[in-house]
Amino acid sequence: MELMQKGVYISTYGCQMNVNDTERMYSLLEMSNYTPVTSPEQAELIIINSCSVREKPVHKVSSEVGRYRELKKLNPRLRIGVGGCVAQQEKKNLLSDIPLLDFVFGTDNIDTLPQLVADVAASDEKMVSAKFEYTKPYQIETLIRNPGVSTFVNITKGCDNFCTFCVVPYTRGRERSRPMSELVKDIQTLVKRGVREVTLLGQNVNSYTSDCGAHFGELLKTLALETDILRIRYTTSHPKDFNQELVDLSAQYRDKICDYIHLPVQSGNTEVLQKMNRGYSREEYLEKVEMIRKAIPGVNLSTDIIVGFPGETEAQFQDTLSLVEQVGYDNIYAFKYSPRPFTKAARWTDQLTDAEKSDRLERLFALQRPISLKKSEECKDQIYDVLVEELKENNKVRGRTSSNRPVVFEKPGAQPGEVYKVRVVKTRPSQMEAVLV
Ligand code: SAH
Ligand code: SF4
Ligand code: F3S
Repeated sequence: MELMQKGVYISTYGCQMNVNDTERMYSLLEMSNYTPVTSPEQAELIIINSCSVREKPVHKVSSEVGRYRELKKLNPRLRIGVGGCVAQQEKKNLLSDIPLLDFVFGTDNIDTLPQLVADVAASDEKMVSAKFEYTKPYQIETLIRNPGVSTFVNITKGCDNFCTFCVVPYTRGRERSRPMSELVKDIQTLVKRGVREVTLLGQNVNSYTSDCGAHFGELLKTLALETDILRIRYTTSHPKDFNQELVDLSAQYRDKICDYIHLPVQSGNTEVLQKMNRGYSREEYLEKVEMIRKAIPGVNLSTDIIVGFPGETEAQFQDTLSLVEQVGYDNIYAFKYSPRPFTKAARWTDQLTDAEKSDRLERLFALQRPISLKKSEECKDQIYDVLVEELKENNKVRGRTSSNRPVVFEKPGAQPGEVYKVRVVKTRPSQMEAVLV
């Protein structure tokens, strides 16, 4: 029996799903005598929680592992593992590509980590555990060490949409939803631990379907009515599944359901959207935006965009620019298309050059910059309810509005979890300054 505490260090790449998975890993490992440490030098176990959504993911993993070469020489008991989407994608190939690596585990194998790590620590053999779980229902309890005021809760895992550019359906497997009754219990438990805001997470939250048949709208309504959570956020919404019912519910329960919707469009051209297998046209997308804005005036909208998808012409790219201008997003996340393994679009021959993609990305950002600035300036002199998340120096506190904008204001004695009405006096895109009203 090893009673001494051992250090574990996890480095995290990619989306919020991975950030949440890292928390789960730490929690599970803590139960088996590992203590989280803040630097790899203190660790006896290093895990890289990887992402493969964009370029050179395997390279990123191998160069990080390479940085631990000396540590491994100094401490023969050090074990290094890779989890997350690159692990799921590459499985045992990673062990042959990266000789310093001791183990690889997939996105459905996190809960077996304590056993795997114990086996790996006790032997000199390399191990792989990367099988998808196809049979068991998706029943987990949120595991977070210090949830704080605002936390993330997985409601679905996997994705069945198979957008032709995206690796996620191959790295996260088929879509599964957690039962609604368990989510209610889980969130109520988090509330008792001091959580006031949850962000419901899924690759496509609005295709959520509970075993009792409840859809995403019903889940939102149930959480609003049957838990004591103050604020509910959710991400990511797929435009094809975003419907009137959801918008009406968001308007009806606006006191709890937050004024922020991330609605990835990917492209402003219908032909490109078809090739991407997104399931909506430019016009249908714009109609959804209209519908949302009509029901929730002042809603904060953001999006994801891919530039330089295979075959994308200059005219088609112009359609993306014009859509961005027309919608007037508060914020956009834009990326150069990157061919991903297993995906359809990666096999197409009409790939653009990196120079073309970089040029389009720059032009897109140049268009959006003043729009984002204008949107944040519009918040000046407006009054918002801010949920305090963090105490700063000089009696200042930091929190967010329902529309997800960070705000700093002075309030001696304020505590995380409290809500204050403030008026914005100064706007900057990263953070607004406000005074109590
Ligand atoms: N489930 C979410 C997105 C997950 S991936 C959704 O459907 O919106 C996050 C973002 O990464 C995507 O919205 C897309 O804009 C970008 N992305 C995904 N695959 C990509 C690729 N092959 N190249 C460039 N960007 C990509
Ligand atoms: Fe990828 Fe499309 Fe699924 Fe989003 S909806 S995770 S972009 S396949
Ligand atoms: Fe990356 Fe996997 Fe998330 S590919 S974006 S970590 S789902």
